[in-house]
Amino acid sequence: MGEIKSMADENRMFPPPKEFVDQAYVKSREEYEKMWKQSVEDPETFWGNLAKDLYWYKPWFKVNREDFAKAEVEWFIGGKTNLSYNCLDYQIEKGKGDKVAIIFQGEPEDDVKKITYKEMLSLVSKFANVLKKKGVRKGDRVAIYLPMIWQLPVAMLACTRIGAIHTIVFGGFSAEALRDRILDAGAKILITANGYWRSGKHVSSKANADKALELCLAEGHTVDKVIVVRRLEDLDVPMKEGRDTWFEDEMAATDIDDVCPAVMMDAEDPLFILYTSGSTGKPKGALHTTGGYMVYAYATVKYVFDIKDTDVYFCTADIGWVTGHSYVVYGPMLNGATSIVYESVPTFPKPDRFWQIIEKFKVNVFYTAPTAVRALMKEGEQWPQGRDLSSLRLLASVGEPFNPEAWLWFHKYIGGEKCPITDTWWQTETGGHMICSLPGAIPTKPGAAGLPFFGVKAVVLKPRSSGDEPAVECDVNEGGELCMARSWPGMMRGVFGDPERFYNTYFIQQPGYYFSGDGARKDEDGYFWLLGRVDDVVNVSGHRLGTAEIEAALNSYEGVAESAVVGFPHDIKGEDLYAYVILKTGVQPSDDLKKALVAHVRKEIGPIASPGKIQFVSGLPKTRSGKIMRRILRKVASGEIDQLGDTTTLADPSIVDEIVAGRQ
Ligand code: WT7
Repeated sequence: MGEIKSMADENRMFPPPKEFVDQAYVKSREEYEKMWKQSVEDPETFWGNLAKDLYWYKPWFKVNREDFAKAEVEWFIGGKTNLSYNCLDYQIEKGKGDKVAIIFQGEPEDDVKKITYKEMLSLVSKFANVLKKKGVRKGDRVAIYLPMIWQLPVAMLACTRIGAIHTIVFGGFSAEALRDRILDAGAKILITANGYWRSGKHVSSKANADKALELCLAEGHTVDKVIVVRRLEDLDVPMKEGRDTWFEDEMAATDIDDVCPAVMMDAEDPLFILYTSGSTGKPKGALHTTGGYMVYAYATVKYVFDIKDTDVYFCTADIGWVTGHSYVVYGPMLNGATSIVYESVPTFPKPDRFWQIIEKFKVNVFYTAPTAVRALMKEGEQWPQGRDLSSLRLLASVGEPFNPEAWLWFHKYIGGEKCPITDTWWQTETGGHMICSLPGAIPTKPGAAGLPFFGVKAVVLKPRSSGDEPAVECDVNEGGELCMARSWPGMMRGVFGDPERFYNTYFIQQPGYYFSGDGARKDEDGYFWLLGRVDDVVNVSGHRLGTAEIEAALNSYEGVAESAVVGFPHDIKGEDLYAYVILKTGVQPSDDLKKALVAHVRKEIGPIASPGKIQFVSGLPKTRSGKIMRRILRKVASGEIDQLGDTTTLADPSIVDEIVAGRQ
């Protein structure tokens, strides 16, 4: 199978505890199988019934239509609805008006704001009116560059209320990365903050935003309006006359009403764009639409988190990533749940901040990433042991395979050996969970992602060299390419502004299927085990980075001729980045130059993209046709220098010795 290897076997099974099963929506594998079968064989009934849990101005006439050969997918065709209405008004109609929707926990311990569904509706309606006053209309793109503060869900729900398409840019991205996204989306308005708290210090978002807008101007694009949240009372930032206004002033204006009718949206009207990395240099804007995304976010929170009305739910992801979109804001609110928004890092002021938040708000369902668990495991079990975590009933994980060592620690010290752990495999593109074991129905195997969610027809296929070859499923436990044989409601509908790219990225490699870019194997019990990306995408601390993007950043530095970036295993981050850099003639390699290159990548993309190791080389291992043999670079980076394989097809095999000798 070439590069797609199966990892070590892990045969332990953890069945859900009886108390959990008794109260779960789905209680056994048989029940799950029955529902799954209906979900793929009769989506009309299955998804039709689930969608009826939500509010529609007008019902759909057909649940689903798709043609992968044309990259066309539609769900709830003809249906009219509004996501913001379903998250707010509809919850209030169902009697949840006084229930807390969002608990905001700032980095300072006493900085807490609890917002009920009714209060949220009023804030969202006001802000929607502010956006309207600024000229924002249905279909306009609104860029949001905010930290994890309560104003972020307010801004999102205000956009979706009036049919504006939000594109949220993770607060840790650089000015350059923000510029690229604003330009690609064609956003004329930006919502940001003066700054936020990070480990006891102030970070200014506004400074980056200002720089990004200057860079946009240089490209001939003007952002007319900037709304700035005054997150930090005493952080002064320059405000540009006529362009910048304060969120607080806008909300307090006498002409701003706290009633704003939700716009009737077609099920297939664009909802949001979220940029994600691929195997080329330019991030792609994953476009999600209204009805399908909404139903899928609702259904996954209900079944995968087995959410109950009394639950307090805490997802540690930043809203700037898709996990935060679907599982901090939309999915929980569609279920009328209480969701925590935490501003800062897990280690401030001490490495028990997550555990302290769980204790303080009596969290029942906790969703995080293996990289966070590994980092906190390293700090020692005395931290969770010093906190009362008995409120927890379910743990969940996302972002990368959960290594059994960290899984077991999480199970023992956080879950007290009584909480099921559900791993969730999915992607920005999928909108919601795809492979995950329903916690009351399916015993978990540490390290496996589990079974397909309802509506998901996942298959592991052998690689095909051309579309003329038939699709062939792999044998049990044989590694191959993880694909989807049919669409599901939460699936992305396109790459914003680039329909070709959507088709070329996802529907060509395995014609007739959606190709995920991940390697996987399916075991004898039908569980899927993820084997990492098969394309040039690296997963650092749960963040997805295209190596081509980092190469483009390195190559843009004066003195760099060429570069190649690969991933290598890292204890805490899962993977780290290893950069091979060729310098221009006459440029001297030095440690200072390495530091300068790291600083440059941080500036171009953001701190998450900093290469952990840089090696200066005189050449790269290329085939005679000029293609870099990344397999060799990956092996050297991970220290497997005795397994380089065949190098005879290289244009210059001697370069391999130099690279091995100079390994960092
Ligand atoms: C890629 C998607 C959607 C959640 C956050 C990341 C990897 C995600 C798992 C998991 C193994 C996982 C895959 C996937 N991934 N979850 N449970 N087990 N790998 O979203 O940035 O779009 O990245 O993350 O490689 O393709 P994303």
